[in-house]
Amino acid sequence: MTRKRLLISKEEIARRVAELGARITQDYAGRDVVLVGVLKGVFIFMADLVRALPFPVEVDFVRLASYGQGTESSGEVHITKDVETPLKDRDVLIVEDIVDAGLTLDFLRRHLASHHPRSVKICCFIDKRERRQVAVPLDYVGFVVEKGFLVGYGLDCGEHDRTWPEVFAIED
Ligand code: IMP
Ligand code: MG
Repeated sequence: MTRKRLLISKEEIARRVAELGARITQDYAGRDVVLVGVLKGVFIFMADLVRALPFPVEVDFVRLASYGQGTESSGEVHITKDVETPLKDRDVLIVEDIVDAGLTLDFLRRHLASHHPRSVKICCFIDKRERRQVAVPLDYVGFVVEKGFLVGYGLDCGEHDRTWPEVFAIED
């Protein structure tokens, strides 16, 4: 039987998202910014983050597949929905829910770089360190956790538990 333990509360999330928004605003205000979110997990974080940015940005999304229904990456990443916005000479900020092995973001950075943007940086809600296989530069990080499988605030386990407003660790 699986149980869930509260890891990050709504209040902690709201405070941290506001801090991230302030830092991104310092770095990007006045630039030609496109936020590229990684579906589906990012949809809640991205919705909160853009509302913490008091300057105009464009948004687009990609959908990448690697995990299937389980909790372990298959190791292979492929695009099932690509960006539709022109990225050439623009400042791209990738927005991701959680970085685990790093394979997904490593793949996406290279893919988006092939569109010749002016810059590509990464903002992730959670940096989960223990299983990292590829060193990806994470420019803005919400929370760091060592390990565990997390759900809520967009994160799912086999499509369950995505819509809770806080983050839980699954315990079995
Ligand atoms: P990786 O960094 O290539 O291993 O893959 C990261 C992706 O795996 C994330 O975008 C999530 O979709 C998924 N993922 C990794 N860890 C978790 C977790 O703890 N909960 C929910 N999804 C996760
Ligand atoms: Mg994801």
